Amino acid sequence: MALPATVKLVEVGPRDGLQNEKQSVDTATKIELIARLGAAGLRAIEAASFVSPKWVPQMADAAAVLTGIARRSGVSYPVLTPNLQGFEAALAAGAEEVAVFAAASESFSQRNINCSIAESLARFDPVMHGARMAGVKVRGYVSCVLGCPYEGDIAPAAVAAVAAKLYEMGCYEVTLGDTIGTGTPLKTQRMLGAVLEHLPVERVAGHYHDTYGMAVANIYASLQMGVATFDSSVAGLGGCPYAKGASGNVATEDVVYLLQGMDIDCGVDLDQLLACSAWISGVLGRRPASRVGQARCSSAPA
Ligand code: HMG
Ligand code: MG
Repeated sequence: MALPATVKLVEVGPRDGLQNEKQSVDTATKIELIARLGAAGLRAIEAASFVSPKWVPQMADAAAVLTGIARRSGVSYPVLTPNLQGFEAALAAGAEEVAVFAAASESFSQRNINCSIAESLARFDPVMHGARMAGVKVRGYVSCVLGCPYEGDIAPAAVAAVAAKLYEMGCYEVTLGDTIGTGTPLKTQRMLGAVLEHLPVERVAGHYHDTYGMAVANIYASLQMGVATFDSSVAGLGGCPYAKGASGNVATEDVVYLLQGMDIDCGVDLDQLLACSAWISGVLGRRPASRVGQARCSSAPA
């Protein structure tokens, strides 16, 4: 199969990245991060998460972030909403796109959102209804598609069943989360093969954490199957508070470098993105987790 000519990147650093930071990141910094990512050319930036502040204190200022950003035309700013309460708060803060999140593993579902997979899907029903009424787009996540921190291997059919359900419920896109970053290219293609029996490829996205350094390889394996949307996190920020040891998403810089090297357009200015990565890494007091970021830093003239 020919590789896609263009790829859409969904930047998840401000949410998936910052939700896992031990130190608190102030609202103004989050707003500036989102502005810099938009300036670098990212057209979808997951801005925050309307979840319980007792569960994820780092996202307690979601409403302030969403109301504080200067929205660029042509850029979407989805936010996570696990239930109607979160959806209503997101809507009040001006959300135009939300994301619901389920898992392919029962144990992860319980630890992450305190309910079974079936209960989570039932909770999404009123969210889907509210979103339809308000003209809000809904993206759907499936976590643990290539392994679970509690259950180990997850059957591709289990992933496909949840992905199909989210799609039937009205999610315009279903993003497949390798939450703990244990996937490999062959496993990724087997999992995608099962999902693509139920969903058109243009409705499928890859969301690969980079714990084992496989995320870029998994993206390449997904491109070979026609997937053309990927989630990534500037500087490789993040992890998951309910998946111990999981590292951040694949770094956006690394994905942009890969795509540019294959003549696949993603609309992102790599230099501006690298500057953003260096800035947020400096704010957090660390080096970027991105390989491209590290290579460019160490090759910069002293
Ligand atoms: P629960 O305790 O079962 O909820 O939590 P509840 O309905 O029984 O309510 C209990 C309390 O939470 C009440 O407050 C509610 O008001 C409050 P209290 O009366 O005790 O003061 N509450 C809320 N507050 C704010 N916003 C809300 C909300 N809902 C209830 N939306 C719940 C259920 C889902 C809320 C909780 O488990 C939760 O917030 N979990 C969040 C977990 C999370 O954010 N995980 C990280 C994101 S997922 C991820 O990173 C994976 C992903 O990247 C993909 C991948 O990598 O695989 C997406
Ligand atoms: Mg994630």
